[in-house]
Amino acid sequence: MIPRIYIPGDSGALALGAEKVAKAVRAELAERGIEAKIVRNGSRGAYFLEPMVEVATANGRVAYGPVKPSDVKSLFDSGFLTGGHHKRWLGAPDKIPFLAKQTRLTFARCGINDPLSLDGYKSLGGLKGLQNAVAMAPAEIVKQVTESGLRGRGGAGFPTGIKWKTVLDTTSERKYIVCNADEGDSATFADRMIMEGDPFVLIEGMAIAGVATGATKGFVYIRSEYPHAVAVMNKAVEIARKAGVLGVNVLGSPNAFDMEIRVGAGAYVCGEETSLLNSLEGKRGVVRAKPPLPAIQGLFGKPTVINNVISLASVPIIMDKGATFYKDFGMGRSRGTIPIQIAGNVKQGGLFETAFGLTLGEIVDDIGGGTATGRAVKAVQVGGPLGAYFPRALFDTPFDYEEFAKRDGLIGHAGITVFDDTADMLKQARFAMEFCAIESCGKCTPCRIGSTRGVETIDRLAAGIEPEKNLALVTDLCNTMKFGSLCALGGFTPYPVMSSITHFPEDFKPAPARVAAE
Ligand SMILES: Cc1cc2nc3c(=O)[nH]c(=O)nc-3n(C[C@H](O)[C@H](O)[C@H](O)COP(=O)(O)O)c2cc1C
Ligand code: SF4
Repeated sequence: MIPRIYIPGDSGALALGAEKVAKAVRAELAERGIEAKIVRNGSRGAYFLEPMVEVATANGRVAYGPVKPSDVKSLFDSGFLTGGHHKRWLGAPDKIPFLAKQTRLTFARCGINDPLSLDGYKSLGGLKGLQNAVAMAPAEIVKQVTESGLRGRGGAGFPTGIKWKTVLDTTSERKYIVCNADEGDSATFADRMIMEGDPFVLIEGMAIAGVATGATKGFVYIRSEYPHAVAVMNKAVEIARKAGVLGVNVLGSPNAFDMEIRVGAGAYVCGEETSLLNSLEGKRGVVRAKPPLPAIQGLFGKPTVINNVISLASVPIIMDKGATFYKDFGMGRSRGTIPIQIAGNVKQGGLFETAFGLTLGEIVDDIGGGTATGRAVKAVQVGGPLGAYFPRALFDTPFDYEEFAKRDGLIGHAGITVFDDTADMLKQARFAMEFCAIESCGKCTPCRIGSTRGVETIDRLAAGIEPEKNLALVTDLCNTMKFGSLCALGGFTPYPVMSSITHFPEDFKPAPARVAAE
């Protein structure tokens, strides 16, 4: 059998040099006259080890990483095609602690095979969920999803089954499934990893959503910054269509479902569901007032399921193994698993899928290994640019929607950004207001005007001008934005601002005191 070498084609791995490694491996094979198959798999998500090269040996896969092009010659000299030892040797990929500690349900296949091999997908259990779904009544499918406890992974944590039920119960000649792949939050890359590494799981999830609600057409709205994901998804849709996974008879059933990929234009607010729908319709990405809910009047005024990539990609395993299987993971009302994305100033950055319930401290210190700079962790922002900053004193908070809310935080899309003790939280608070000012769609006053006034007020604080008055003003402004904004862009910007002020008051002292303290 000719040797198989796996080199990720995932854009995170490419950014870390995977293409150069592939080129060096190809050159070395040619020079040594060795015939081997190079498979461009997705990433398993341990980005601190990328580019991670794997070889299939008689005793299973052996991984090496992070591999540099200059390592390639010595890898061949060490007999890496049969798993030989080398300074980059990591052993069996599923025994690498960062990967071994995970519970992979949604990401079970991600990074293992060629993402565009439908046979590979099926060989690892793919399409079983859809096969089960087409044999069931729509209401039964919706019931399973509801009972699994799955909540939207895009940010708001709304129960997926309930959203689907509204669409199912709304009569219309046309309904849509829209997948939100705008993934604009800082530190997040789970959607991208799935689309590039296991695109068929998303297609399967969308087809199940279609069968469950009576929708026959789906769109994936992918941010323009993800050209690799767009390319993989387009190819995967074509392959799925040819294989009869999509089309007029999904898997040979009477259900029709087809889908298209659409590319966004680079606005954070287009991730907000109603703004996304406007953008999909070819309009400016401005937020719509609710009601009507998109589930009743969504895309082109028709009932629409709009779900995040991870919500939809988690459905196939629920339909394959059952609601109880999925529900048995997690804590409280946060059921199943969540792909936590660890980024920022951290030693072991990457995607870690686990049941809800790990504490923030376990994630940052044990899984992430602390800061990359080796300095003390000062703050962790959870939930993207609209998420709160958590100090070490709150590291006992379990990863759970309700527990985070109790501490004035949010899980959002489960991206976490780690900061060391050199971070200036006043600057971070200013950044939050500035981000809101730049990204605001402009529809409502608290966000459009408030964010700009927020930047100015924090600037006055930084300059030491009337600190008490300006601090009170920022707090008042945050209250107005929180309760007066139409959507969560203006409504949640107060979280990073107020958490900075509450947990790191020393950073908001008048300028001379701050300078003296430094
Ligand atoms: C400013 C803003 C940006 C958002 N960006 C995203 C995004 O990039 N991806 C996403 O899935 N949800 C995003 N959301 C949440 C969506 O509005 C919506 O709740 C979500 O797509 C619903 O899917 P889910 O129930 O599966 O989470 C954003 C919300 C706001 C207010
Ligand atoms: S809060 Fe901001 S982004 Fe949301 S509708 Fe109002 S102006 Fe637009």
